[in-house]
Amino acid sequence: MKIVLMGYMGSGKSTIGKQLAQSLKYPFVDLDEYIEVQEQLSIKELFSQKGELYFRKKESFFLQKLLKEHQNLVLSLGGGTPCFAGNLEALQQQGSVSVYLKSSIKVLTDRLFKEKDQRPLIAHVTEKGQLEDFIRKHLFERAFYYNQANIIANTDNKSISEIVSN
Ligand code: S3P
Repeated sequence: MKIVLMGYMGSGKSTIGKQLAQSLKYPFVDLDEYIEVQEQLSIKELFSQKGELYFRKKESFFLQKLLKEHQNLVLSLGGGTPCFAGNLEALQQQGSVSVYLKSSIKVLTDRLFKEKDQRPLIAHVTEKGQLEDFIRKHLFERAFYYNQANIIANTDNKSISEIVSN
């Protein structure tokens, strides 16, 4: 089985994915980390040196490659992966089970304000209120895609082990 975790930046996809893979004894891949290794550049460098469009093309390419190569896998996507050309369809065609890790705007804002510098889409934001406004609008656009996941898991006020065991 291929289990694919999606959700906004800061929703815990990588942390939860790692734990889930461990408990299922499945291989784990974090799509962002995989792209960084393949391209020999950090996500931040990819955006600044090659641009977002280049990153999105690579993201789609490596997503399809990983889905084809693995029978069993836990895969954590980047926050934008399900929202770009054909990626949701690829997930459906490859028979994966997708899980949307849903977090509230407040929780995402608190987490991302501390970690924003590594994330090119929000690195420019200087104030917390501004970040919250950005997330609210962005999440509104992206929820259309995330809500097409097979399973929606609310993650607020839950420990990682609770989320994994459910
Ligand atoms: C992005 C999310 C990031 C990374 C890139 C773009 C997005 O991944 O893929 O910075 O479009 O939301 P995380 O969700 O792991 O931060």
